[in-house]
Amino acid sequence: MDRRERAARGDVESDFTDLRIAEAVEALRRGELVVVPTETVYGLACDGLSPWAIHKVYEVKGRPEAHPLILHVTGIEWFARLTLADEPTRRTAEKLAGAFWPGPLTLVLPKAEVVPEEATGGLSTVAIRSPNQATTLVLLEAFGGPLAAPSANRFTRLSPTRVEDLDPEIRAAAAMVLDAGPCAIGIESTVLDLVDEPTILRPGAISAEQLASVLGAMPRLRGGKTGRSPGSHPKHYSPTARVEIVTALAAGDPGLGFGEPTNPLQVRMARDSSTYAQDLYRALHSLDRLGVEFIRIEAPPQGPEWDAVRDRLERMAHPG
Ligand code: TXA
Ligand code: MG
Repeated sequence: MDRRERAARGDVESDFTDLRIAEAVEALRRGELVVVPTETVYGLACDGLSPWAIHKVYEVKGRPEAHPLILHVTGIEWFARLTLADEPTRRTAEKLAGAFWPGPLTLVLPKAEVVPEEATGGLSTVAIRSPNQATTLVLLEAFGGPLAAPSANRFTRLSPTRVEDLDPEIRAAAAMVLDAGPCAIGIESTVLDLVDEPTILRPGAISAEQLASVLGAMPRLRGGKTGRSPGSHPKHYSPTARVEIVTALAAGDPGLGFGEPTNPLQVRMARDSSTYAQDLYRALHSLDRLGVEFIRIEAPPQGPEWDAVRDRLERMAHPG
């Protein structure tokens, strides 16, 4: 399907006008930053091949330079340009992209020369994904190159899933903010390393089982590569308030639970994992804005469909 058709098929896109897209392309070409919607979370985007623009992203996020970014692309056609995978790896990547792109799956592959080390935190590998968001696909096509875009939050903070939840400093540093309403998925993409054995570095909406259906075997989980991924930074995705995971909320607790709220600082969350993920960051942002000191979160059920949510909750509850 052609990107314009996808855009036309997409949901309401308040910022999808040719003029806004042209303005955003201009800003990106000047090396400026643009907040872009994706189906997972909002991203802080810049020209992915410009070391100078990438440097600004790190500065605005307050992110250590060794933490690599994701390059966002229109589709599979970018593998040849941005990666140096051997034939079998390339075929695997193409099969996965064929099945899940555009969508919440990031693939890590050996990087081509053209990808600046600034984008990869000095690593010889590059992370790429094609976001399933009509406005941003049209922007990518118009820009004609990859956009480096980390989640549009300050380092270790919560990702924004709505423009309303953007950090004022991030908003101020961006030349433009493209608003497409709330993100459909609500937590960050699955990151799959294809450099050696397929290994999930960060769980997300594309599950291990879905990946296995294409790979023919279950991917590994994180393996020994933990150290090189900021998504595996133990303290991550955190609100300002201290987070505690509990088996049940007490009557006076501010927090997220599954039952009937017993005070105005409790948010009732959905019992299905996709809806829960969609609402999670927005709920936490809103409790944070109320200035609560701690947030208690009722532990979600066991089961693989909760893996991605559980990963985020465990990180935000991490004391470090
Ligand atoms: O859903 C998403 O992925 C969002 C939207 C905006 O696309 N982006 C996002 O970016 O979450 P960021 O920068 O917050 O997280 C990037 C993740 C980190 O966990 C990072 O370690 C991993 O991707 N990553 C990037 N490049 C990598 C590489 N070369 N090797 C291993 N992990 C990499
Ligand atoms: Mg992030």
